[in-house]
Amino acid sequence: MSRSRLNAYLKHGQFLVKGWLLPGAPEAIIRLSDEQRSANLQGGVAEIGVYHGKLFILLYLLGSENEPAVAIDLFSQQELNIDNSGAGDLERLKRNLFRHADTSRLLIHEGDSTQLTSKDLLRFSRGPLRMISIDGGHTADITAHDLATSEGALIEGGIIVLDDCFNEMWPGVVDGVHKYFSQQRTIVPFGIGANKTFFCHGPFARQYADVLRKLDPRSIEQEFLGAQVVYFNFAPWSFSGWYKKVDAWRSLRRVYHDTLSHLYRYSS
Ligand SMILES: C[S@@+](CC[C@H](N)C(=O)[O-])C[C@H]1O[C@@H](n2cnc3c(N)ncnc32)[C@H](O)[C@@H]1O
Repeated sequence: MSRSRLNAYLKHGQFLVKGWLLPGAPEAIIRLSDEQRSANLQGGVAEIGVYHGKLFILLYLLGSENEPAVAIDLFSQQELNIDNSGAGDLERLKRNLFRHADTSRLLIHEGDSTQLTSKDLLRFSRGPLRMISIDGGHTADITAHDLATSEGALIEGGIIVLDDCFNEMWPGVVDGVHKYFSQQRTIVPFGIGANKTFFCHGPFARQYADVLRKLDPRSIEQEFLGAQVVYFNFAPWSFSGWYKKVDAWRSLRRVYHDTLSHLYRYSS
């Protein structure tokens, strides 16, 4: 898809779509996708838990002509939504996607993700996937199930992006991660930031962690699930932290103080 549509979505479009996407998440996902592209990796993209498409549209815009984009959500079957993590809306998703991209590569699966296997996902995307976002049900069991489905459908060098793993409101997600990683897996975490936790096959972890490290000069190394991960932080600097760093503000503050003390001296 054209880079200009992607840029337009980043700049304006994303703010017109209801959903959850913290600053920094799009940038990280785009850089990681570019890294996959520079290694000539090809494969579909998918999201489990699409809602109105805020992140899904970004994934879609990162895909090329022959890469299907699979949207999985309960949509109209909200009676199966056991933790009320938002109610997906198929009509809104289609409208949003049409407005900001197109729908030519779209494949929709309406239903409970826990009824899906990796084989189903591979069938939907006509082959292994290179980027899968998990943001559906937020219980431990659903998270563990969605991780298993995704791992089994991931291409070598593919990336899984898990939402809310460290969100206090959804402790089920990290419980599900620990449950899933209580056994040996082929994927490892390599990055955490902007409410997303990133996983890939072991041999690619260092390369992808480097991509995230370059994005944030303040990034730090941590250990999670026995693996080295990069923690990046895109939260805007606080006003006080920011203005201290800007020379213009410093000189303005000096002028202000000098003027005040000058006035004080002559008025007393
Ligand atoms: C937090 S929202 C997703 C937000 C979305 N990723 C975004 O970019 O804004 C969670 C979504 O998961 C869907 N969902 C919940 N449980 C599900 C399940 N068991 N299977 C499939 N989808 C599910 C809900 O319908 C809802 O649309």
